[in-house]
Amino acid sequence: MVKFRELNLFFLVVWLGRAVTETPNAEIPPPERIAVIGAGIGGAAAAHFLRQYFGRDVQIDVYESGTVGGRLAKATISGQDHEIGAATIHPLSLHIKEFVQLLGLKERKHPNNLLAVYDGEQFVFEESEWFIINFFKLIWRYGFDFLRVKMWLENYQHKFMRIYQYQAQGYSFTTMEKLLQVLGGDNFVQMTKHSIDEALQEVGISQRFIDEMVGSIIRLTYGEGVNVNAFVGMTSLSETESDLWTVEEGNQLICSGLLYSAKVNLIKGKVTSVDAKERPRRNGEVVTVYEVNYLVGPHTDYGAYDIVIVAAPIQSSDPEIHFRAFSQPIDVPRGRYQQKFVTLVEGRLNASFFSYHGAGPFRPTTIGTTVHSGNFILGASVSAPVTRGTPPARVWKVLSPEPLGEEGLRHLFPSYAAVRQAQWLAHPRYSPDDRVPPFVLHDQLYHLNAIEWAASTLEMMAIAAKNGALLAHHRWFRQLDKIDQDTLQEVKVEL
Ligand SMILES: Cc1cc2nc3c(=O)[nH]c(=O)nc-3n(C[C@H](O)[C@H](O)[C@H](O)COP(=O)(O)OP(=O)(O)OC[C@H]3O[C@@H](n4cnc5c(N)ncnc54)[C@H](O)[C@@H]3O)c2cc1C
Ligand SMILES: *[C@@H]1O[C@H](CO)[C@@H](O)[C@H](O)[C@H]1NC(C)=O
Repeated sequence: MVKFRELNLFFLVVWLGRAVTETPNAEIPPPERIAVIGAGIGGAAAAHFLRQYFGRDVQIDVYESGTVGGRLAKATISGQDHEIGAATIHPLSLHIKEFVQLLGLKERKHPNNLLAVYDGEQFVFEESEWFIINFFKLIWRYGFDFLRVKMWLENYQHKFMRIYQYQAQGYSFTTMEKLLQVLGGDNFVQMTKHSIDEALQEVGISQRFIDEMVGSIIRLTYGEGVNVNAFVGMTSLSETESDLWTVEEGNQLICSGLLYSAKVNLIKGKVTSVDAKERPRRNGEVVTVYEVNYLVGPHTDYGAYDIVIVAAPIQSSDPEIHFRAFSQPIDVPRGRYQQKFVTLVEGRLNASFFSYHGAGPFRPTTIGTTVHSGNFILGASVSAPVTRGTPPARVWKVLSPEPLGEEGLRHLFPSYAAVRQAQWLAHPRYSPDDRVPPFVLHDQLYHLNAIEWAASTLEMMAIAAKNGALLAHHRWFRQLDKIDQDTLQEVKVEL
């Protein structure tokens, strides 16, 4: 049922995608050079859409100070590669699905995990392999809360999915607030302005369900509590659905594939600033050109561009990107990013750490924790290697706000064979009074990662990338009828 709906929508989007941009205004010369800062999924997807909308002649330079993929990365442990950054992709991620098909990559089903929730003293919920047993376990502990939350989630997803129809017809938005307003009205906008805790309480969900189930899932995905905004909370809850998937051989391949197929120049440099420069045109008109200054080792260099897309979190970028010589101050988010450690361990988990003294083997493959269990670990799950058919070694992936340390590691894993650790500035540190900053920073200067302040996922970044490329196109050719408008011709299809 869900499969069919998904498939239909997918073809609809691909089909509509052909008519996104009208023939450009012949009186306006096309841009010659575009810069994209960052080669994570946001930058790679932006390069793909820019090439699609501006044609093959424009030069697209992509700046990357680290490695292509950004927060999509793998690490080798005991001879196997594992995702050590973003691991799972939601089944309704239509843009990411389209990229994977376009690039000839293979989707791979993520194994369904058995969740257990630890509250600092014991497991308060333990999922079983049997659907019917889970059903009764959930009802026993939480009444019908889980069904009500599931329905709420579906209703919200249904509304949010309309973004694909808008984007397929070339609609773009200058702020997240306007985008959400068009998709779901005031209720939707409000979701970024109050906490998931409040939102669920309002619809009568019990505090027990919120703290134990919702809370542990948010800690597993975003490493925070139930005071994150309701929008990111919902996104987090969708990660509990079945049919999550990953890319065979590693999610990072989407980024390198898109950069390759978009024929970009990859510049290995650290961007330090974007400066506005006024330049006269032959016809006397004065236009802004953006000078992108960057470091390659100790040397500085720069490039001049008609359009610049920032596809990195500006404030957590190292060095921070400065905006100079603009007539108005540039509206950059001021909040901070959350530090997160991902530790891969091949070893045997100390079940008694979780006061587990069951007679049989320890079955859970995902361990969620509530706030009462402290901050030593946020959660853990069994990790599957990115290559199909490799013999399974038990590799656990542990999430923590601080490094586990030698002692912590020994405590959690009395015996282990190998360890790999990565440190991330993972996503914004959410609070309900966050403001989602604008996508447009200046005439032709855009910031995709503003969307992360509503929620940070691969698909959200792909949506922001398509939106950014559409904005750049429409604003360049002065086709303003598809910016911040709600005049969509609803296409009637049976979904
Ligand atoms: C541990 C972890 C688990 C996650 N799990 C999931 C998941 O399961 N599913 C999901 O959908 N999402 C997940 N996410 C979120 C997801 O990874 C992000 O939303 C997404 O990858 C962000 O992509 P991006 O391109 O915007 O940013 P990034 O991937 O951060 O890319 C930005 C790039 O810009 C480069 N850069 C920064 N500053 C400069 C500069 N000054 N000059 C030049 N280059 C610069 C960086 O090196 C980086 O490569 C997870 C994130 C983390 C950290
Ligand atoms: C396992 O965890 C329990 C409970 O925290 C602890 O008492 C025990 O020492 C741990 N085992 C090892 C080998 O560290």
